[in-house]
Amino acid sequence: MPPSISSATPPMALIVPDANRPIEGDPRAGAPRPVVAVDLSELGDFSWRRLFGHDRPVELEIGTGKAGFLLRRAQAWPQRNFLGIEWASEFYRYAVDRLQRWHVPNVRVLRADAAHFVRVICLRDSLTALHVYHPDPWPKKRHHKRRLFQPPFVAAAAECLAPGGRWAVQTDHAEYFEIIRALLREQPLLEEIPFDDPDFGVQSADDDSSVGVATNFEIKYRREGRAIYQIAVRRR
Ligand SMILES: C[S@@+](CC[C@H](N)C(=O)[O-])C[C@H]1O[C@@H](n2cnc3c(N)ncnc32)[C@H](O)[C@@H]1O
Repeated sequence: MPPSISSATPPMALIVPDANRPIEGDPRAGAPRPVVAVDLSELGDFSWRRLFGHDRPVELEIGTGKAGFLLRRAQAWPQRNFLGIEWASEFYRYAVDRLQRWHVPNVRVLRADAAHFVRVICLRDSLTALHVYHPDPWPKKRHHKRRLFQPPFVAAAAECLAPGGRWAVQTDHAEYFEIIRALLREQPLLEEIPFDDPDFGVQSADDDSSVGVATNFEIKYRREGRAIYQIAVRRR
């Protein structure tokens, strides 16, 4: 069961590990590591330029987990910037360590509630792409209020996309998928587009050719033969 984000928890609990701390057993221990973890409180007014040092197209991944997707996508697209937001400190630390060891310069990770980030901090009309893969389904009815996909989140995320920006979602949970799809289709700023796109995202659910980049959960679920449901939309 993933940790829940209770109302008692501050929405922006940020940890900035020492970027140059050697990690035991790391063959590159001692080599300077790129700073990939961000502390928004030190950033002043939020802007993508402040976060990355320059203006390039930005892709945001919500629920980065162990950052397998973020890492490979950032490596494949060095001319774009990538921010991953992860709530669970265990996965956040894992992602920070991994991204530092791989020396990926165009990526940042933030420990935060992504719903808060999207509603309050993320700049409107700014994202080239938004990726949300295998959001926690919270299957029990009494937990549905913890789900990421709620009307205010969808409305705010749609506003954060630049015109033409792409938002892709995939899940292995059929019932949650129906809800996500209805929310996306209802949002007047968005229009549905084909999921498959060689320039973006994970491979299609029917495609075993390994084109595209799979997330950690996707790899696991495909191996188990589970169905994967996907939708992509574009900001009008
Ligand atoms: C099922 S995992 C999927 C991880 C990854 N996307 C993948 O496909 O392998 C969902 C992730 O979303 C994170 N998460 C859930 N709610 C979140 C929120 N509001 N803000 C940021 N991360 C969140 C969880 O901690 C978890 O790591």
